[in-house]
Amino acid sequence: MAADRILVVDDDHSARWMLSEALKGWGYQYSEAQTVQSALFACDSDPPAAVLLDIDLPDGSGLKALREIKSRHPEIIVIMVTANVFFENAVEALRGGAFDFIGKPLNLNELEVTLRNGLETRRLRRRVKALGRQQAHHFSFEQLIGESPAMKNMLTLARKVAESNASAVLLQGESGTGKDLIASSIHYGSNRADGPFVALNCAAIPGTLIESELFGYEKGAFTDAKARKEGMFEQAEGGTIFFDEIGELELGLQAKLLRVFEQGAFRRVGGLKDIPYDARIIAASNRDLKAESRAGRFRADLFYRLSIIQIDLPTLRERDGDVLLLAANFIEQFNKRLGKRITGLSPEVTDLFLRYQWPGNVRELRNLIERLMILEESNVITTAWLPHELLEFTTAQPVQQVEQSAVTDQLQNAATASQVAGAHSITYNDNEIGLKFRLPAGGVDLNALEKSLLQQAIKHTKGNQTKAAALLGISRDQFRYRIKRVDAAEEER
Ligand SMILES: Nc1ncnc2c1ncn2[C@@H]1O[C@H](COP(=O)(O)OP(=O)(O)O)[C@@H](O)[C@H]1O
Ligand SMILES: [Mg+2]
Repeated sequence: MAADRILVVDDDHSARWMLSEALKGWGYQYSEAQTVQSALFACDSDPPAAVLLDIDLPDGSGLKALREIKSRHPEIIVIMVTANVFFENAVEALRGGAFDFIGKPLNLNELEVTLRNGLETRRLRRRVKALGRQQAHHFSFEQLIGESPAMKNMLTLARKVAESNASAVLLQGESGTGKDLIASSIHYGSNRADGPFVALNCAAIPGTLIESELFGYEKGAFTDAKARKEGMFEQAEGGTIFFDEIGELELGLQAKLLRVFEQGAFRRVGGLKDIPYDARIIAASNRDLKAESRAGRFRADLFYRLSIIQIDLPTLRERDGDVLLLAANFIEQFNKRLGKRITGLSPEVTDLFLRYQWPGNVRELRNLIERLMILEESNVITTAWLPHELLEFTTAQPVQQVEQSAVTDQLQNAATASQVAGAHSITYNDNEIGLKFRLPAGGVDLNALEKSLLQQAIKHTKGNQTKAAALLGISRDQFRYRIKRVDAAEEER
């Protein structure tokens, strides 16, 4: 790493000479200027890491140069060095963005430490900025996957809202539809992106703590308040506050919050004055807040305040085809993380994914893919490790359609049906039969299995034979016949 370069701005030749020797001795590169004009020129043409800036310069005040430098190059560390250590000068220097203020005659030890601290601060700031950029990319709209019309419409609206200066936004959608993701995308896609994104999960924090969490408290506000504490409204200055699961907030707090939103100011717990804040509010709920407000569980006035701009996140089942796009992306992600080489979904799983209802939406899909990828031994995701919910879903519908045929008939039909059936249709195919009746490696006792299924069907329908038969996809007569046969077989033993 190249040594940091320090620009010394002083019209006094001997001061420059002394500093050049000292700086080189500490391992820095050195450059110099004698006037405000030449200092600004030097900063513009090849910005140094830090400037040691004198106040009394031939063509103007170093304090003016300071403001100019900081406005053009905020990342340059400026340390004022002057014989005129008046209080007013010091105050103005610090206000103007100087890192520090050192009096002449110079104490070189003091200067060395100040400079080192200044440069360290600069490095940290740069690092934070770089991380912020990565972060911004990580949460940007580009990370959101979806090509379906429902998703595209929602994203267009969210982008518009991000760029607007709307003071409040309400996100509504089932659990797992991406509310957290959209909230941070709106923040990082707005002109508040450089400000903080502060999130509060209203469901996770006890109501008694939420107030001090939000508004902070004054020293002595309660027994444990040993020192003043900043709340989220202060922390989020210039940024965004995200109220996740706002539907869980107690009614009393809802009232307080509404007042804060309306006044644009809050009060610390135990505090006496209203403090104005500057933060955009994003609220999210998986409940229908309008319905909640009708039922008296959510304040209607707060709902109207929040829902001036409302974004409804579509469920995964409303996003035709997106499920496969998302699955492919998650597979790619987990391949990297798990060091696997899964290439995709088997045709059966593809078909299943397109028909499953996904009550847990994208989160459910993501978790499922992670789990299947850990368990899968082949290089595509097969039905081998699919959980019950999915397997059952596939067989639940066809049973009613093939009511009259026996299980053996179904197995025969399956082969032909699968040849005719399109990938998206809800017809029987051999895979589905295979899913429900997958033969375990150790084999099964077919008679015992039949008996168990018959018993379950009777129990399930509370003895209604017609319904029990329908559950098994056979006629009532077939049902009776099978029960008799099982009985007879039992007696024979
Ligand atoms: N459109 C999308 N593209 C990619 N990942 C998504 C998308 N929507 C949601 N996710 C992922 O799904 C999971 C759940 O999303 P989240 O925002 O926490 O949902 P919610 O807050 O609505 O419950 C997260 O891992 C998120 O990254
Ligand atoms: Mg969430």
